[in-house]
Amino acid sequence: MKEYMFYNPVRYLFGSGVIGKLGDHAAALGKKALLVTTPGTMARFGSRIGDILTAADVEYQVFTDVQPNPLASGVRAGANLAEQTGCDLIVGLGGGSAMDTAKGIAFLTGKEGGVFDYITGKRTGTTALPIICITTTAGTGSEGNATAVFTNDETLDKKGLVNPLIYPKVSFIDSDFMATLPKDLIAGPGCDALFHAFESYLSKDRHPISEMYSLEAMRLSIENLPKVYHNPADTEAWDKVILANTLAGIAIGCAGTTVPHALGQPVSGLLNVAHSDSLVCLYPAFMKFTAQAAPERFAVLARLLGCDTAGKTAGEAAEMSIGAMTEFLKGIDAYKKLSQFGVTEAHIDRLAEGATTMMKVVLNKNPIVPTLEQVKELYRESL
Ligand SMILES: [Fe+2]
Repeated sequence: MKEYMFYNPVRYLFGSGVIGKLGDHAAALGKKALLVTTPGTMARFGSRIGDILTAADVEYQVFTDVQPNPLASGVRAGANLAEQTGCDLIVGLGGGSAMDTAKGIAFLTGKEGGVFDYITGKRTGTTALPIICITTTAGTGSEGNATAVFTNDETLDKKGLVNPLIYPKVSFIDSDFMATLPKDLIAGPGCDALFHAFESYLSKDRHPISEMYSLEAMRLSIENLPKVYHNPADTEAWDKVILANTLAGIAIGCAGTTVPHALGQPVSGLLNVAHSDSLVCLYPAFMKFTAQAAPERFAVLARLLGCDTAGKTAGEAAEMSIGAMTEFLKGIDAYKKLSQFGVTEAHIDRLAEGATTMMKVVLNKNPIVPTLEQVKELYRESL
């Protein structure tokens, strides 16, 4: 049997109202927190979080300069603020961008250079400030792994810092935050979580433990994402959607993602397209390209998506999954094309170059690895 390893040192707190326990955990980890979030999330939840920290005698400084596709310069600015104000704990409050920025700041505080110096191996680091993640969307799963994705200011390349030092010490997964999410912040991140689950299930780096997380996350997402999209007050379904998100985050921490994430990151970096939007556009073409390279796995997806695969071969069932996914996306208003986001034929060479160089490691995890020409074709089909 192939050797494998499972390590996930995060303390997860799940449940409605569990954020009330933030004070005790924060006080155990530091005396002054940098609260990393967006202006919008700060307006919605900042005072509540601030009150909890203050009641626990934890001082805090707010950093709200978090971009949708976080730039390396923003991470440096946050680390500078943490250094200048003596913060010894970083709290990420929000979706993936806020949590990833928090992870980057925790890593970069007290170090020279920019985050890409460490991503590319030009510099190395051996310490990071403790991190608390509070997820306010159910999508990226960043609260469950040691990855944080950033955009290089100069090249617009998007790439992840992957380092065990940036596992959150504690992650709060509180369904109370989800009740007031706008529809587009339900469907998009929800699809990202489902895609994390499926891509980690397909990945060449999967192992028996990651597979367990992937499968349960797929099942929970497919059953419950449409429910919360159409009825955001369905708290029972939300409990399952946010669990799926975290399980999928753990799964990608083990097995990574595949072609859609490899091709989606350059789109987000170059044209500032939301991560989940780039993925939903690429999914049908990716599925057509990959289905027959892993028919049993696509057949499992088909069954989870509700296809009647009785009497079908794995290959036939795999083909059924492609149409079923398109219908699933349409059912939550998430079926989109890259041209809607300004991507044109003229961008394809540059995007394909990014996908096959910066994202090569991710691309190689797919059951069938596309050539440069095939990558261009996948983009073209998704326009
Ligand atoms: Fe993702």
